[in-house]
Amino acid sequence: MISGKNIVLGVTGSIAAYKAAEIASQLTQAGAKVNVIMTKAATEFITPLTFRSLTGRPVVTEMFDITSEMSVEHVALAQAADIVVIAPATANIIAKIAAGIADDMLCGTVLATKGPVIIAPAMNVNMYENPVTQENLSKLRARGFTIVGPASGWLACGETGMGRLADIDEIIGTIRQVLGRKGDLAGKRIVVTAGGTQEPLDPVRHISNRSSGKMGYALAEAARDRGAQVVLITAPTTLPKPVRTEVINVGTAQEMYEVIVIKKAVAQADALIMAAAVADYRPAKVSESKIKKVTDTLTMELERTPDILGTVEGSFIKVGFAAESENLIANARAKLLQKGLDLIVANDITAPDSGMGADTNQVVIIDRDGKVDELPLLPKREVADRVLDKVVELLNKR
Ligand code: C5P
Repeated sequence: MISGKNIVLGVTGSIAAYKAAEIASQLTQAGAKVNVIMTKAATEFITPLTFRSLTGRPVVTEMFDITSEMSVEHVALAQAADIVVIAPATANIIAKIAAGIADDMLCGTVLATKGPVIIAPAMNVNMYENPVTQENLSKLRARGFTIVGPASGWLACGETGMGRLADIDEIIGTIRQVLGRKGDLAGKRIVVTAGGTQEPLDPVRHISNRSSGKMGYALAEAARDRGAQVVLITAPTTLPKPVRTEVINVGTAQEMYEVIVIKKAVAQADALIMAAAVADYRPAKVSESKIKKVTDTLTMELERTPDILGTVEGSFIKVGFAAESENLIANARAKLLQKGLDLIVANDITAPDSGMGADTNQVVIIDRDGKVDELPLLPKREVADRVLDKVVELLNKR
């Protein structure tokens, strides 16, 4: 999404300006051409040299600088920009943009660009909560600008409240999402499940599995970056929530079943991708108190959990995952037929660097016509994109 893109990063005079260096660095590392425009006030907090070094590109600080190749045509950056991101954005720049003022290079660029604009406010809590700032932000939202943050917390002025620059991950995730809006999943609603469910035995113990949730989270992010509206239904994981997706947290297989089948979280979906490792069995009885170690052995009865994929009904594309330790293709194909799936993504969990917990995965994608696509060992994000390629193909056939 970001590689090869022309990104204008506007930096304004907020104490959070130093955080823009990390944004510039991450975008450059992801392959973007990052053109930084600093307001005069921003140069009091951080030097242009920092951005020059991080991006390897000229940094614009003046509207009419005769030594800069950029300022000859003062709207050149605006025209070339795939996206303009202002982070941090002060109350002042927000007011100027809302009013259509163009008295410096940054607000001039915003006025002249046809690309999308993301604004990440950072300021004192009172400035942020001031009705005039709120009104300006509402105006910008109504005009199609994307506002990310601010977050609440400790502010450099010593107060606590709304006004901290949003997390860098949230800003980068938002850039990815906005750049991907016209992707091949634009307008589609994709529901993804992730993580291993936890089936309680007593108030402090549960049965679970080694699923890390990485595959499902990669699918959610990849679908978001291709323009989809994403709902991620996740069992507990240690992963950060993918930004700009709707996240529904569940614990047990039963809870996931209720969200998907009873509450119909998939009713409007174009595809359901079940990457979650849903427990097949759960303790038949959950002890109300902590089970004591009074006997040498302990026998516990387990019962089947509801089969979510096998029961859910609807016209959406159904994608299942099959973690197998033997007869990979035959078992996966049987599961595809038995659960009425459109696609099944099978992985051999005994293969090194593949499957649960790993950052990479080696999978075979099988469709309803019996076509078998064996992929090499790939990062989970790439596997996610290959699975989504198939989903797009199926959606286009409809
Ligand atoms: O039958 P098995 O558990 O191997 O099937 C795996 C696929 O079915 C996965 O996509 C998993 O998310 C889903 N599943 C389910 N409900 C269950 C168990 C698994 O939807 N109770």
